[in-house]
Amino acid sequence: MFEQAVIAHVGVAVTDLDDALAFYRDVLGVMPRPPLTADGATVVLLDLGTGQVELLHSDDPTTPIGKFLAKRGAGLHHVCYKVPNLDAALDRCRAEGYRLLDEVPRIGAGGHRIAFVHPKATAGILIELTE
Ligand code: CO
Repeated sequence: MFEQAVIAHVGVAVTDLDDALAFYRDVLGVMPRPPLTADGATVVLLDLGTGQVELLHSDDPTTPIGKFLAKRGAGLHHVCYKVPNLDAALDRCRAEGYRLLDEVPRIGAGGHRIAFVHPKATAGILIELTE
């Protein structure tokens, strides 16, 4: 068997970053990291123990997050699991018939290798894998 995955972060699409950040700051006492840019979205990471919340915003309807917000509004966008070996995990996805949105890993917002798995076979939840 292989080493088990852990939750890395939960990605939440928001229509207004400042509004969304208020809950984390004022209720949970969590301070945001400086914003990053990835896939045309502004990304704000919040450290919550060993995992993070990733707030995602874009006003540009041609970007993945802008499209998501236009179509579905704010809400859960994806869950990211950290695996010990991303290539091996992608091989297991292929072997089990899960559709990959990234056949080859790419570099995500935090500089780590990532790949997305289509939500169709994962309970409607877009899955990001990282290592
Ligand atoms: Co993510």
